Amino acid sequence: MDKAEKWAFSLAGLMLVIFMLAIIIGSNATGVHIPGAEKKVQPFSKDTLFQVGPEEYELHMIARMWVYQPSTITLPAGSTVHIYIISKDVEHGFLVKDKDVNMMVMPGEVNTETVKFEKPGTYPFLCHEYCGAGHQFMSGKFVIKQTGGMDNENQ
Ligand code: CUA
Repeated sequence: MDKAEKWAFSLAGLMLVIFMLAIIIGSNATGVHIPGAEKKVQPFSKDTLFQVGPEEYELHMIARMWVYQPSTITLPAGSTVHIYIISKDVEHGFLVKDKDVNMMVMPGEVNTETVKFEKPGTYPFLCHEYCGAGHQFMSGKFVIKQTGGMDNENQ
C-alpha cells in the first residue's frame, strides 16, 4: 500500500471515530434521546391507552396500511405519553407536529418515544415514510384538553 493511501485511510478512520464520539457526546450533553427499538415491551396485537401514573400514560399503537390505531388520542394537558408503536405490514413513519417525535416504524420491532404535552390543543401526526397507495391518508391526532373546571365536556 502506498504511503499516501495509508495516510488517507488512517485519516478517514480517525474522522469516523470523531464523528461517532460527537454524536454520542452531543446527544448525552444536550439530553437528546436517539429513538431506537424497545426491548422491554413485548410485541402487542391490540391498541391500548392506559394510565401508568399521575399525568403519565402508555400508548400501544398499531400502524398499518393506511391507518393508525387509535387515530385520535384524547389526553389532559400536562400528560406525558410513552408511545410504543408497531407495524403490521410495511415500514411506516410517525411524526408529531410541533413535537420532538420523528420515528421510523419498522415491522418486527417495538418502536418507542416519550412525549409531554404541556399545552392544550390539537397535535396532528402523520406517516412520513412512503408506504403505498394510501400513504398520504395515513394520519391522526392528539387532542389535548384543558384540565380543571373550565372544561365541561371532559369524559
Ligand atoms: Cu404509512 Cu406512509
